[in-house]
Amino acid sequence: MDRIKIVGGQQLHGTIPISGAKNATLPLMIASLLTDETLILENVPRLADVIQLQRILGNHGVDIMIAGKRPGDDPNAGRTVHISARAIIDTTAPYEMVSKMRASFSVVAPLLARKGEAKVSLPGGCAIGTRPVDLLIMALEKLGADIEIENGYVLARAPKGLRGGEIVFPKVTVGGTHTALMAAATAKGTTIIENAAREPEIGDLADCLIKMGAKISGAGTSRIVVDGVPKLHGARHSVLPDRIETGTYAMAVAMAGGDVLLQHARPELLQSALDVLVQSGTTVTPTNEGIRIARNGGGIAPVDVTTAPFPGFPTDLQAQLMALMTRAQGTSHITETIFENRFMHVQELARFGARIQLNGETATIEGVERLKGAPVMATDLRASVSLVIAALAAEGETMVNRVYHLDRGFERLEAKLAACGAAIERLSA
Ligand code: EPZ
Repeated sequence: MDRIKIVGGQQLHGTIPISGAKNATLPLMIASLLTDETLILENVPRLADVIQLQRILGNHGVDIMIAGKRPGDDPNAGRTVHISARAIIDTTAPYEMVSKMRASFSVVAPLLARKGEAKVSLPGGCAIGTRPVDLLIMALEKLGADIEIENGYVLARAPKGLRGGEIVFPKVTVGGTHTALMAAATAKGTTIIENAAREPEIGDLADCLIKMGAKISGAGTSRIVVDGVPKLHGARHSVLPDRIETGTYAMAVAMAGGDVLLQHARPELLQSALDVLVQSGTTVTPTNEGIRIARNGGGIAPVDVTTAPFPGFPTDLQAQLMALMTRAQGTSHITETIFENRFMHVQELARFGARIQLNGETATIEGVERLKGAPVMATDLRASVSLVIAALAAEGETMVNRVYHLDRGFERLEAKLAACGAAIERLSA
């Protein structure tokens, strides 16, 4: 298993190219199942989760072509991927595939819309929580699906096709909103989605579906209206920049000190996180190339943050912020309201000498002057990158183990940080 070695103390200077968003790419790839024509996605990041989803789609009979290099290509740009679900030959998504990448559970909606049936393994929980899918199932039932759960699989049927309906989500769910959009796009009649998630990745999926011929209004607000159309056609769509990768590197610069341009980043995708960074004493300057992040000399000010659905502070940046706050000049409080077990990074950060107390869903972080490098272990995607952030400012050497978590959501992380002066390298076991 690969490990990453970091020797702390180096400031970061230069440019970091931000890749296409993992959490937009995955639903966009799944949306290809809705049409028998080719969906072309640009700016697709090179991530383990994307490769795993390619395998899952291939199992349904989907052909995927990765375009090769073209003259003048920017080596940091994402890949162009042609996805053709001309014929869906298998409507089953097996446990051994879905359990490795829970977002793939969302294939249930397009399989149902296109073939009138789907047999998809329940994804199971993960390190951060039980991750139920009851609201995704509720959405499909509201659109006329018959759903049974048997031997750990969701058996969904809609022999007469899906029909429009009203879906009211009792809590904001990104996956539920993706599922409702994909099921409603070709349902007979109009669908209203109330209390819809407003994350930018929802808007990106809606933009792509509209290019494919869907009739959607209100995406990005909490009320979305979808007028079903008989068929969707192929389209070309570029994946929006990854706001979580952007926020992660912004916090890395805030922690290590320095001055870095996050190229292609868009401030409006993560304004709440940028506001918190400014509160903590970091300079955030939007430019026409992206966002410039700097902290030169000034200390890190403590902040109090509660995670919330967009446009609130994103849960996917909670661990990274906590790493930054371990060296604040004072005491911070971070409250996690989205997932029930998303503090797995606390005990690992404590190995650096961080002082963090947990009380239910609130972590109290008492800033310390110095962190000391240590061997640490990653437990989930965002927790693992919080350890990298801490290591950048820790004295001495840190070894981050189980970096496969990192590879799921951060493209070429060590190359991007090393290019800005970090003493970081990957050791293949
Ligand atoms: C998406 O997960 C993201 N994943 C997550 O990012 C992100 O943390 C999350 O949204 C919240 O922003 C992808 O987009 C692939 P939810 P999702 O449905 O859709 C509960 C990462 O690190 N819930 O918005 O699964 C759920 O348990 C990942 O990139 C139900 O109770 O999240 C959670 O408490 C981690 N029933 C809350 O709602 C359901 O049917 C929000 O979950 C569905 C969700």
